[in-house]
Parts: sequence; structure tokens; C-alpha cells
Amino acid sequence: MNATRPLTLCAIPGDGIGREVIPVAVEVLLKVAPEIHVCWAEAGWGTFMETGNALPEATLSAAREAKAVLFGATSSPSHRVEGYKSPIVSLRRELDTFANIRPARKLLPPDNGIDLVVVRENTEGAYSRRERMKEDAAISERVISRSGSERVARVAFRLADQENRPLTIVHKANVLPVTDGLWRESCLTVAKEFPNVKVDEVLVDAAAYHMVRTPPRFRLLLAPNLYGDILSDLASALADGLGMAPSISLGKDFAIAEPVHGSAPDIAGRGIANPIASVLSVALLLKHWWGFEDRARKVETAVAKTLSDGLRTPDIASPGEETVGTREMADAILRHL
Ligand code: NAI
Ligand code: MG
Repeated sequence: MNATRPLTLCAIPGDGIGREVIPVAVEVLLKVAPEIHVCWAEAGWGTFMETGNALPEATLSAAREAKAVLFGATSSPSHRVEGYKSPIVSLRRELDTFANIRPARKLLPPDNGIDLVVVRENTEGAYSRRERMKEDAAISERVISRSGSERVARVAFRLADQENRPLTIVHKANVLPVTDGLWRESCLTVAKEFPNVKVDEVLVDAAAYHMVRTPPRFRLLLAPNLYGDILSDLASALADGLGMAPSISLGKDFAIAEPVHGSAPDIAGRGIANPIASVLSVALLLKHWWGFEDRARKVETAVAKTLSDGLRTPDIASPGEETVGTREMADAILRHL
């Protein structure tokens, strides 16, 4: 266990199915770690419509105080709405959670051998948000810093060391020798601190190719922001899809765990959302934030048993297969704990 971390969690369900799956994940958490104090806070489109602020100050201070956040999903309009900003993007920025960790392991048959963690830099690179127009051209600055690269690399190498995974550095330094060159060099500098970790490197396009052709090829990919965003979605597709894809973003002082999926307005309110992505996100908090590895494993095992009992929400059912709702899936997971 990590003794320096407070045993508190700020749960932010958000909109749509976030309100259905986050309560399940919190039930699971409290069953394995009853000493965690959970507070609830609001954010999202509904909150914006009510208060004019998608991420109220009270939510932000609750998150800061708890230090660990479990975030569901929020609905963002695809057109510009005056005063509205995506709360999760603001929250990640406010809490400076620079290392995004997304494991992808296939739990449902058929097994394709994928067992991969993508560690993505979460604050700079192509998402530095420095865009401007100059005459006919739209220009975007892609900022990569040595300190920004080294801090995420250190998280990735530590994880590789703990989980005994070979680590592959993703870049495109052949075309972008200055920016991706610095990324690569910074990662290789950090590699020297971890002599036990086997390291290699791959160009980002080749990484996508190998992942699809030979899913077991990589065990941990360390990637700059945009490449990591794309490759981690590819990894969840090669695993069991959005309903089962968890993530956690770590910073120096804070952690935000969240399912990868959004608010799923097409199924919201019907009681059929798959809670497993959120439940597995809680397992990531237990493991990477509080250092409760045994309890994290307990949660993962309960999910695996529930699936091997044959329970399927509609998103993961094969055609013609019988399905269950969120509540039945939740109860089965809780029973296996
Ligand atoms: P989505 O992830 O909400 O849904 C995509 C498809 O996957 C839908 O058909 C949905 O029903 C299904 N799905 C997703 N999670 C599921 C689950 N747990 N169980 C069963 N089925 C599930 O992505 P979409 O439709 O692109 O976006 C919907 C809204 O969510 C938008 O307003 C978008 O801005 C927001 N969004 C929010 C995110 C966040 O808050 N982190 C991330 C992605 C999207
Ligand atoms: Mg994405």
C-alpha cells in the first residue's frame, strides 16, 4: 500500500450512462476497500444547463481534496456553445495528470493474445492547443519538452519494471527529428535508470501495423500524446471494446480513473450499460494509486469469473446470445468478490 496517499475518492458520474456505471464501480470499490471515504460531485452538460458551469468550483475543490477521482463521462455538444468547455479536459489539465495508462487485455473469447498497456503523454505534443491562422495556412505547434517526456517515461518504465513487461518507445523521429528526436532521446535517458527493463523502439505507423497483424507483439507502448491517443483506441478495439476499456491518468499529486467510453446517449437510461469499464478503472486506482495490488486483482478476478459464467450486456453479446442489464452484471461481480 502507498502510505502517503489519502484514502479518499471523489466520484463524478457526469452525464448519460456515467450515472449508471459509476455507482456500480463505487459499490465494488467499497466492497473491497471499505475504508475509502467517497464523496460525490457533479460535472457535465446537465450541470452546465443548470448552473452555467460544466465543472463547478465545488467539484474542482472536492477533486483536489480527495486527490483521487473516478470520472464517468460527460456529453459534449459537437457545435460550439458559449461558455461550455469539456470538463474532463479541464480537469486533467487542472490536476496535471500527465501519464495516461490504458491496459488492453482480451477477457472474452476468442483470445487473440493481446495483453498490452499503452502509456500516453497527456499534456503536450499535438494537443498543446497552440493553433493559429496565418494567411492561407492553419498552423499548429507541437511542443515536446525534455521534462514533459522524462516524467511520463519514468511512470512507464516503473510500470514495465513492476509488471515485467518489455517496453517499446513509439515515435516518428525519422521524419520529425527535432520533436520526436527529443522524445526518443528523453525516453532512452530514463531507460538507463531501469536496467532490468527490456527496451526497443518502433515507428508509430509500424506500431499500428504490428498491433493488428500480431496482437501479442507489444506489451507496453510509451507514446507521445496524439500517437498514444490513436494507438490506445486501436488497442481497446483489439481487446473487448469500449464497454470494457478502463483507464487511469496519473500526475504527481492526483489520479483520475475513468472508463474510456463516453456518455452513450443512445442507450442511456435503459439500464443496459456495461459497468465493466468503470469497475476495471477502480481496479487501476487500487493498484496504481493506493497500492492495493491484492484488492485490484480481486476485482479483476471477479470480473473474469462473471464473464466466464456467461453474463453479457448487449454490447458484448454475440448475436442471439441472452443478455443481462447493468444491475445483474453488477450483482454478479459483487457476488464474486
Ligand atoms: P460513446 O463512447 O458514448 O458511445 C459509442 C458507442 O459505444 C455507443 O453505441 C454506445 O452505446 C456504446 N457504448 C459506450 N460505452 C458503453 C458501455 N459502457 N456499455 C454499452 N455500450 C457502450 O461515444 P460517442 O457516442 O462518440 O459519444 C457520446 C457522447 O459522449 C458525446 O457527447 C461525447 O462528447 C461524449 N464523450 C465523452 C467522453 C468523456 O467524458 N470522457 C469520452 C468520449 C465521448
Ligand atoms: Mg480518445
